[in-house]
Amino acid sequence: MNKIASDNWPESWKTLEHGIRSGRYTDPEFARLEHERLWSNTWQAAARLDEIPETGDYTVYDIGHHSIMVVRVDENTVKAYHNACPHRGTALAEDAGSFEKCRIICPFHGWRWDLAGKNQYVLERQQFRDGNLKDEDVALKEVPVEIWAGFVFIYPGKNPSSFADFIAPVKQLTEDLAIGDMHHYWWKSVEVPANWKVAVEAFLEGYHVPATHPQLEKEGADFIFGDDVATPPPHYSHLDHLYETFEHGHGRFLGGEKTPMAGHVRVEGDPVDLMADRLNLLVEGMDAMVLAEDVALVRSLKGKPIPEGSSLGAEYMKALYETAAKQQRPMPKPEPQVLAQWGGEIFIFPNLMILPQAGNAMIYRVRPNGFDPNSCIFEIYSTKTLPAAEKPKRAEVQKMTDVHDPAQFLQIPRQDFANIPRIQKGLHTQGAKQIWLADYYEKIILNMHQEIDRYIKD
Ligand code: FES
Ligand SMILES: [Fe+2]
Repeated sequence: MNKIASDNWPESWKTLEHGIRSGRYTDPEFARLEHERLWSNTWQAAARLDEIPETGDYTVYDIGHHSIMVVRVDENTVKAYHNACPHRGTALAEDAGSFEKCRIICPFHGWRWDLAGKNQYVLERQQFRDGNLKDEDVALKEVPVEIWAGFVFIYPGKNPSSFADFIAPVKQLTEDLAIGDMHHYWWKSVEVPANWKVAVEAFLEGYHVPATHPQLEKEGADFIFGDDVATPPPHYSHLDHLYETFEHGHGRFLGGEKTPMAGHVRVEGDPVDLMADRLNLLVEGMDAMVLAEDVALVRSLKGKPIPEGSSLGAEYMKALYETAAKQQRPMPKPEPQVLAQWGGEIFIFPNLMILPQAGNAMIYRVRPNGFDPNSCIFEIYSTKTLPAAEKPKRAEVQKMTDVHDPAQFLQIPRQDFANIPRIQKGLHTQGAKQIWLADYYEKIILNMHQEIDRYIKD
């Protein structure tokens, strides 16, 4: 496509000091520019290692015009290849599976490779290049790979930037949280009729919680939707959140100190029941971050005295870590700054969100669906660390069709998904040529757009 010098950018593409112009979400030309310059030239998570646990396993990651085959070569080696036959271009793999007898065979004319990408067979080899076909002419074309936090990261374009530098701002944090030890529990994928950034941004702040998830913040929701305009608003939980932005577009937020996980619940009653009921909203609403076994552990504390100087939250942590130690289950480092991340989120630019809690994590990955600015692929992974005796299961995606269907998605993602297409619709109207962002509570969103601009501006 023609390059458009950034000082000649249309107004509708601009990132502003306090907001964003909506063409960034709706204009097909902008989406094409993102493909050419962002998605082709950034590190991104192509697969979970759990998708390819055994030698010969593969999975295919598609983004724009790239199709990349991620292959388990042996116990310690993962490689990625452009998913194309060097003969006439046939895609060598689809979706996910295992290469039989560890041989990659093109379905068109039967050329064959080993898992390391070396060609093993060309039918009538002497017919090609006057009989002088070299091994490198017919080897599979490798794509740079890095393994981190249980993910296979790839870089589709030429001249990859340093992964170590890219991941540095969040590396220690995710290692301390044992994200790389988390394994497949469930994984769902669905097409959402909205720009990929709209979908990402729906999860980059906690400011939407009282209105979007009223069951999680009853007092705040009662005020927002109630008739009482005279009394001052309640203490919203987002006021306790801490937001941080990092280099390379990454960011994170923390739930703050007054989280339900730490035993802080803003209603009267038996503290154990209240904490368990509050955490159970995440079990019933998501089946992720907090799982049924975690709530059972909270309930087991009922009637037990809390020692002087301790708290319900601290006693729960003790019970959780004792149980994990007995099971030899890896857990996040039990240090205050690591545990503070529970209930918050780590955002890995451009499209990965990790929400850790209780030795579990929910992870979102969002990417454009082809070149359509109004469609994205949204995935949710529920992951957890496992007792030493339990072997991880191979991760297989469940392809969902309807974000509004209670049989397909539990309440909390359904509430978020209810907004996302409506945001996209509004962004197309004359009423939303420019949207506003909260200086603090939505700063991760602005940081992400500024980073996108660094990729795509001339
Ligand atoms: S296209 Fe693959 S062998 Fe011919
Ligand atoms: Fe939400």
